[in-house]
Amino acid sequence: MKILVTGGTGYIGSHTCVELINSKHEVVIVDNLYNSSESVLDSIETITNVRPKFYKIDILDYEELEKVFKDNKFDAVIHFAGLKAVGESVEKPIEYYENNISGSLNIYKLMKKYNVNNLVFSSSATVYGDDFEVPFKEEYGFGTTTNPYGTTKKMNEMIISDICVSNKDLSAVLLRYFNPIGAHESGLIGEIPNGIPNNLLPYIMQVESGIRDHLNVFGDDYDTVDGTGVRDYIHVVDLARAHVKAIEYACSHKGCEVINIGTGKGYSVFELLHAYEKASGHKIPYEVVDRRKGDIATCFADTRKAKELLDFEAEYDIDRMCIDAYRFMSKLNKKI
Ligand code: NAD
Ligand code: WQD
Repeated sequence: MKILVTGGTGYIGSHTCVELINSKHEVVIVDNLYNSSESVLDSIETITNVRPKFYKIDILDYEELEKVFKDNKFDAVIHFAGLKAVGESVEKPIEYYENNISGSLNIYKLMKKYNVNNLVFSSSATVYGDDFEVPFKEEYGFGTTTNPYGTTKKMNEMIISDICVSNKDLSAVLLRYFNPIGAHESGLIGEIPNGIPNNLLPYIMQVESGIRDHLNVFGDDYDTVDGTGVRDYIHVVDLARAHVKAIEYACSHKGCEVINIGTGKGYSVFELLHAYEKASGHKIPYEVVDRRKGDIATCFADTRKAKELLDFEAEYDIDRMCIDAYRFMSKLNKKI
């Protein structure tokens, strides 16, 4: 199949392009390189021996985006492009709504105009908010989102589901990712945070590398195994494989499905910290500080629907996630 991947040079997008190419799909990437670099195309080519066609385009630019749909006859779209920093979204709500809603609407309009009827959308476990008990099940629907970023994910899910009602030819899979970490085993692609990392593992990686002096652990008084927050970390390569299954599912079904993508297991901050210490062979200094506003104690997925509909199960454990992340970071440090 010929698949448009928006945000395809980004962290999850690049790993998904590799898995799509490995599964013999043709990939065309649109990205404005706001949070990624063109050199990712070299890495994808080194890993797969295929260089995807690339358009440096902002999805807010409808005319330029239309040229991509005119030039290519797509079978499907995987839509990753968007802004993703939770804290920044509170400071810059207009930018987040414009990019993540108006940009997405351009994609959906052009899919309709050019009769492209299969879509996978990057949603997030953040849409569950803190309203439900774990494991989070798709049938819960939406909780109360606590920041504009989360609200853009909820709104996109609602928009896509409304479009599916009006257009019976459209098939959409809305993937609610839990916490993607890790990197490709080649060490050539992975996550490079812009500025101070918001997420736990990228922060731990920078402390281990000496870029930051210690990790702040946001609270050790939660009702969890060791008092620190528990999350469902999933290897980004597993997540990428889930996208291949999801787009193939979309192409052979009609309607709109929401599907969790996680491992179904939760690990605490200290458990992840210790797994990365083991992978790197170094002690990582930390300090326990106050809880972070908006955080919940525990979050992990009910993964049964992914297994039933997509025949997807995550393969890699937390040690493998840390080993691959450490390899990527070690290569990156040598480059800098
Ligand atoms: P990322 O920032 O690495 O990738 C997003 C890509 O989209 C970047 O390459 C960026 O340059 C591009 N982009 C942003 N705005 C654009 C625009 N207007 N036009 C064209 N390209 C644009 O992020 P990621 O971690 O790979 O996330 C991919 C998707 O998954 C995002 O939609 C994100 O919200 C969602 N998601 C991520 C996580 C996570 O923890 N990483 C969790 C749940 C959902
Ligand atoms: C994990 C745990 C923190 C940093 C976020 C978004 C979510 C999704 C994934 C996009 C928590 C603790 C963290 C640190 C810490 N993204 N922590 N010190 O909050 O589960 O999810 O990323 O959709 O929308 O909200 O992930 O990695 O920030 O935090 O102690 O420096 O690590 O308190 O318990 P989170 P995270």
